[in-house]
Formats: sequence, C-alpha cells, structure tokens
Amino acid sequence: MKCKTPLAKLLRVGSHQAAALAYKLGLSSKYCFPPNFVWGTGTSAYQVEGAHDLDGKGESIWDRLCTVEGQIKNGDTGNIACDQYHRYAQDMELCRKLGLDVYRFSISWPRVQPLGRGPFNEKGMDYYDRLIDELLRLGIEPVITLYHWDLPQALQDDLGGFAHRDTVQHFADYTEAMVNRYSDRVKFWTTLNEPWCSSFLGHQTGYHAPGIKDPLIAAQVAHNLLLCHGAGTIAARAAARQKLDLGIVLNLTISEALDPKDSHLAEKVFRRDCGFYLEPLLRGKYCEAAMAGISDLREGDLKLINQPMDYLGINYYARNLVSSSGKTHPVPGAKYTQMGWEVHPQALRRLLNRIARDYPEAPPLYVTENGAAYSDVVTDTGSIHDSERQAYLQSHIEQVALAIKDGVDVRGYFAWSLLDNFEWAEGYDRRFGLIHVDFATQERRIKESGLWYKRTALSNKIVLPRQP
Ligand code: FCB
Repeated sequence: MKCKTPLAKLLRVGSHQAAALAYKLGLSSKYCFPPNFVWGTGTSAYQVEGAHDLDGKGESIWDRLCTVEGQIKNGDTGNIACDQYHRYAQDMELCRKLGLDVYRFSISWPRVQPLGRGPFNEKGMDYYDRLIDELLRLGIEPVITLYHWDLPQALQDDLGGFAHRDTVQHFADYTEAMVNRYSDRVKFWTTLNEPWCSSFLGHQTGYHAPGIKDPLIAAQVAHNLLLCHGAGTIAARAAARQKLDLGIVLNLTISEALDPKDSHLAEKVFRRDCGFYLEPLLRGKYCEAAMAGISDLREGDLKLINQPMDYLGINYYARNLVSSSGKTHPVPGAKYTQMGWEVHPQALRRLLNRIARDYPEAPPLYVTENGAAYSDVVTDTGSIHDSERQAYLQSHIEQVALAIKDGVDVRGYFAWSLLDNFEWAEGYDRRFGLIHVDFATQERRIKESGLWYKRTALSNKIVLPRQP
C-alpha cells in the first residue's frame, strides 16, 4: 500500500520482509509493527446503518428474520441500529479521531438494488458516494465488503437465495455495478464476509438469516457462495477503474484438543471447517468432507472459485476446542467474553503461522476482525471504562506482532468494531465497540479501549495501558 522503506531498499527485499528481519534481529523494539502496517476498524451495513426502509431500500433477509418472534434477543431489530445512514459524518470523524488508516464497511445489497436483480436504486448508491467521499476527505481509506449477510429478501423468496445457482450471476452483476460506481475512489474490496456463517448458521442451525434448518442444503449454499466469490472477482476485475486489492474474508480458527489424545479429532475439525474454504480458494480442490455435502458440483466450478486474490482476510475471535466427550466448556482457569468465547490470544499466532506454513500459495494476510463483547462501565466522569476489552485487544495484537516476527506476512489489523452495534441474533445486548453508543439517544463516546487503540495505531507499536 505504501512505498519501500530504506532498509528494504538496501536489502532489496519487500518492506515487510525487511521490518520482520529487523524485529527478529532485535533491531526494533518489542511489538513494533512494520512501517506499512495498516490499522483499522470495521462495521457492516445491517449492524449500523438503520434506515431499513428509507430512500427506496429493499427488504433484506435480516430485516425479515428480525420480524420472526423469538429469533433475536429481546426482539431487537436493525431498523435504526446506530443510524449511521444519517450519522455517517459524525462516525467517520470519530474514526479519524481514533487515528485509523482504514475503515471497513459493507454495502447493503438491497439498499442499492432493492430486488437483488433488475434496477439499481440511485438514492441508495448516493449514500455510499457520500460515505466514501467523507472518508477520503478525512484521509481514511475505505475498504468495501460486497456481502456481509444481508441478501435482498426478494432473491430468497423467488429463488431460494444462495441455494439457487442463479444467485451467483445476480451477485456478479451487483458486484460489477458497485465496482463500476466506486472503484475510481476505492481500491480495497472484499467479496464475501465469513461465508461459513451465511452457509451454516444461516441454513443449518437457523441461528442467522435466512433462518433455515436444513443440513442437506447448507454445503450447497457454501459452494454457491464460493462461486459468487469467483464470479464476483472476475466481474470486479473487469469493471475496475484502477488496480484493485481484492480478496475474501474468512472466519478461520485453530481447532485444538482439550485432551492431547483427541488431537486427531481437532485436526479433522480444522480440515473440515477451514479446509472447506482454503482448499478450493487457494488450490482449486475440495477436501473429502466438503465434497460429501455438495450435490451440484459442475465442471469448471473449482476453476472459477480458485481466482488469484490480493489478500486473505481472517476474522479471529477464539480458538475452537475439541474433545471426544463433546465437553469443552468451561476450561478451568480460562477467561470468556460475554459471547461465551474463550479468550485465547496465542491461538491467533498459531493460526497465522499455520496458514502461512500449510498454504504457501496464500496471498498476504490481514486480520480483518478481532474484538470482544464485554459490558462497559460508565464512570462518574462520563468516561467508559472497559479494561477487559483493552486487555483483549492488546493481547491479540501482541500475538499478531509475534506472528510477523515469525515471518508471517500480515499486513494489517482491524479491531471489531468501530462502535457498539446490532450483534445479529444477540441484538444490542453484546457490545463490541471502541465507541460506546447510547441507543436511546444515539450519543457516541470513545471508550478507554478506543483511546488505547488510537495510541497503538498512531505509534505503530503496542503502548502499555495508562496507569489510573
Ligand atoms: C463476526 C461478524 C461480525 C460481528 C462479529 C462479532 O462473525 O463478521 O459482523 O458480528 O462476528
């Protein structure tokens, strides 16, 4: 993203390689990051925008799921969310105040193309013009995700959504239109966010939209989503107005055995869950476990999925513990976030190393999401005390630094999330933000973790928490 450092020039290697070498040789201080390292944060459209039926926006599968009784905690919906549709300028100003290089957001497909095919909605597209222009004005690089889970409901109703192959072409058409519209200003694009969740949480457990519980279609949906990635990548490159940085974001995690005797099981789980995506994306083949569930695999599909990528985004929150007894929770002595996810930062370093070791063909990596849900304490002075979130972020960022020191090509880190928002099936009950949102008044306040993250991002190294 930026130009070469003097050391890199001297050694005639990439800046990243030079920085890793300097760090390894002890020439730079502990937990320093390479000079080009990118610091960011992210959100997704449904979680923050609100304005669910404004200016011609169509209904999404999340709009629909939120009307189903008992699906979302406390009956919450994303109808208003953080109202970022109206408050984007204030939010981007806060992002600037945090000293961040990049902001990752998603386009709501039904906002820009209400039925998922056919006419585009000019007013919806204008919104992203405004958002992008504001980011650029503030010196923040926009990073666009094309699909972060909010499929137009019409495609679900008429075709069965991602269970139908026609959705692949519709996704490619939508991608072409978006890249055509915004790529004069936006270089960094992601096709899909966490397709595992859209496939398996959306179609097997029914925890996420569209709320289907049919294990027989989940793997086919996963395959069709990967086809969307492939077809979307080709469409994006063809429509691009500049050379794009194009990739996908996966929720990958290390699977580890609670009892060492079960390590073969853990390995099986890693290959099944992560291999399902990494093998076809990076090698153009499926592992056996994936093949078993896909009913419609056609000639040319794997070639379509296996498109060259400029980066791979990894969302990491917790490791996956496996045991033959099925009991993995709670681990004695372990800490958990409010989501019930184990805090295990070292597994992030192991994951990054494993991807680099097992997949030498992988493009550079970004940690595109990492963060924690904890309840915040509003102090008498009005500051938001969230030391657990700060400790979580710090411990994970340290592991990223160590992975870089190990030689893994990690180019950036995005804390999840810019601000508290609609946490899917958990509603507003789970706060991940660096910025606190009072959902009754929409007042925003930067949390202590946000201030700490700002110092980290600006100094490009871990800064110790301030003493109280
Ligand atoms: C990820 C999602 C993101 C957010 C975090 C907590 O799986 O991509 O939208 O909800 O989890």
